[in-house]
Amino acid sequence: MDNEYYGGEYDYENRIVSSRENPGENDSDNSIRPKTIEEYIGQKKAKDNLKVYIEASKLRSDTLDHVLLYGPPGLGKTTLACIVANELGVNIRVTSGPAIEKAGDLAAFLTNLGEGDILFIDEIHRLNRSVEEILYPAMEDYSLDLIVGKGPSARSFRMTLPRFTLIGATTRAGQLSTPLRDRFGITLKLELYNTEELASIVARSASILGIAINEGGAVEIARRSRGTPRIANRLLRRVRDFSQVNGAEEIGFEEADYALSRLEIDGLGLDSLDRRMLETIIKIYGGGPVGLETLSATVGEEAVTIEDVYEPYLMQLGFLARTPRGRYATKLAYEHLGIAFTGNTPSGQQSLFDIKQ
Ligand code: ADE
Repeated sequence: MDNEYYGGEYDYENRIVSSRENPGENDSDNSIRPKTIEEYIGQKKAKDNLKVYIEASKLRSDTLDHVLLYGPPGLGKTTLACIVANELGVNIRVTSGPAIEKAGDLAAFLTNLGEGDILFIDEIHRLNRSVEEILYPAMEDYSLDLIVGKGPSARSFRMTLPRFTLIGATTRAGQLSTPLRDRFGITLKLELYNTEELASIVARSASILGIAINEGGAVEIARRSRGTPRIANRLLRRVRDFSQVNGAEEIGFEEADYALSRLEIDGLGLDSLDRRMLETIIKIYGGGPVGLETLSATVGEEAVTIEDVYEPYLMQLGFLARTPRGRYATKLAYEHLGIAFTGNTPSGQQSLFDIKQ
């Protein structure tokens, strides 16, 4: 995907374990994207519900209700939207919140849709207010209110749009304004994948790309991919590079472990930035609590990136606790980093931190 998709201000992260899409990555990933819901691995709850909604809309010969997909980046929200279009046999137009700068940009998308088509807006929470307001009548009554001209000669026109489905994707449903959120009939939450699911995704991608890999290799890549298919597929390509150059015939545990260690990705998938963040909480803030903004300023990473990209996985590992008073590093985080646990977190809370979240 190009920069236009995200708007000029988008700041790409170049971490190998970033769950954001890197420039050009989308093109190379197209061949391994699943095309049908049966091919899509994991997300059982979202998938099972979606199957029912698709089937019901087909039975009624009606358009699918608007769908909101939310969850951390890299879990396959765009892939799922394309699958829905494929299963319904309709066209899909793909864009993103930051790419739609003016009301007219959105109007152009809407007026080019056919009956039943899907408009997919990634990062929908980043739509600006004036664009968002165009979306309300479009979603509710399939109508578009346009103002032509300026000042006293300005006139308003109402256009009828084809019945379409909006699929919006966001990293957190809470970031959406209430009027927009309320207009989605279907809300699906995507969760981080477990190792078994990721290993199946790695094996599937390897087979499409003609990469020889055994179960040990697939599981090791899966274990170190922070629950995210986009990272798993990226690591698979990098591991292939090391294996090929080293003359390995097949990627096994050893090849994967060697390559991932060279990339400084540890046994749980943490990179140097994750470790730095935990070390900052422990060494500078005595294990916490530390506020998000303070942490952001100390590690030099945007607060939204910390919340959306770093924290979900660190919390899933049980390394980080978010409390109203701030962020804490847990005992498990100290252990992983090999730092003696000082236990200076508030009494009564500590027992909670021993529980894997
Ligand atoms: N590639 C990326 N996400 C996937 C998924 N959920 N299933 C199969 N292949 C994928």
